[in-house]
Amino acid sequence: MSSGRRRLTLGVAGAAALLTGACHSAPAPAASTPNYDPPANLVRTDFPAWPYPRGIPDTRREEGTLFHVPGSKQAFTFTQINGGPATIDWFPDQHPTPPAPVIEGRAGAYNACGQCHLIDGSGKPDTGDLRELSVAYIVQQIVDMKSDRRHASIPGAPLIYMLAVAKGITLDEARQAAEYFHSIQPVKKLRIIETDTVPVTHPAAHAVQRVDPSGATEPLGTRIIEVPEDFERTELRDPSSGFVAYVPAGSIAKGAALAKTGGDGKTIPCASCHGEGLKGMGDVFPRIAGHSPTATARQLYDFKSGTRDGKNAVAMKPVVMKLTDEDIVNLAAYVASLQP
Ligand code: HEC
Ligand code: HEC
Repeated sequence: MSSGRRRLTLGVAGAAALLTGACHSAPAPAASTPNYDPPANLVRTDFPAWPYPRGIPDTRREEGTLFHVPGSKQAFTFTQINGGPATIDWFPDQHPTPPAPVIEGRAGAYNACGQCHLIDGSGKPDTGDLRELSVAYIVQQIVDMKSDRRHASIPGAPLIYMLAVAKGITLDEARQAAEYFHSIQPVKKLRIIETDTVPVTHPAAHAVQRVDPSGATEPLGTRIIEVPEDFERTELRDPSSGFVAYVPAGSIAKGAALAKTGGDGKTIPCASCHGEGLKGMGDVFPRIAGHSPTATARQLYDFKSGTRDGKNAVAMKPVVMKLTDEDIVNLAAYVASLQP
């Protein structure tokens, strides 16, 4: 399958060479921004947009202002919070000392994991929950990304930012980060509300969805809408402030039935691989319980399209092939409702 992708890349490069009239002996063009979007032949236009949250640039520049969050004695500037490859730690007493890849990053190579996954690894709807995952699983995902075996199903998806990290990090650094996240016990940070009506939301900075200040509502339909409990605190990368997920009325019970029985051969009972309570099993099968339902749905779609095609992804193929959009919403809601 990767040979097909390589052919496609050569095809595009060849076409570009023809268009610019470049000859084969010309030096390669200076490195431009790499394109981490899925190969064109794998892009899905039939998938919904909500599992792939978008953001808008953060235009605040409040230099001189020191920001605070409740319960922390620390104070940081906008640049400390948002500039450069490093990140900040509001609650250094609440977790083990983060190794350099998690808090410092490496200039010119990759940004600190704590920026996007938060310093405790609990993640956001656009990223992923890394807490307690096995070291082998975390490192394997980075290997899969390095070798172009993980993409999203649509262009411009959050994964492009992670692919830049995976390409820039060494395996030794990845292992240090993985050991740290493996050591963190997950606590529940997600509140789930079953409803058929949701606040109108808009993409905001940090790929977080912001509730419209007018208080306007709209039908939820076959979607999940996930918003921060407190937008400002999430923007300040405060790991102690969680998220609210609005899921369709009745979706948790329907998802539970499908996850437990397999729905007469539609899928395979999740616990047979993800273990008791879906808390993960061994090195290969990750904990999925309590994960962001947006992130879970995104993975189910990416396994289904085949864009997530890492070393161990083959096990998920028969699980997702027959799932409808509604099944994916129901499963994501159920999995998110479990104790992490
Ligand atoms: C610039 C933001 C950003 C940074 C920095 C970042 N990540 Fe990610 N990471 C993401 C996004 C976005 C995803 C989710 C991609 C998806 O859903 O397909 C992700 C997904 C992952 C996954 C896959 C999780 C899973 O179970 O599928 C792992 C593992 C991971 N990141 C590890 C790391 C590590 C380790 C670091 C630090 C060395 C790091 N990330 C730094 C944005 C980031
Ligand atoms: C036959 C074994 C098997 C079964 C059954 C199974 N899974 Fe998985 N699942 C895996 C493996 C292996 C991975 C890791 C794949 C990888 O490394 O790319 C995985 C990964 C996932 C992920 C990605 C997690 C993340 O953080 O990125 C999700 C979500 C998931 N499974 C959901 C489910 C659900 C929901 C069910 C039940 C409907 C299910 N799985 C049933 C083997 C299984």
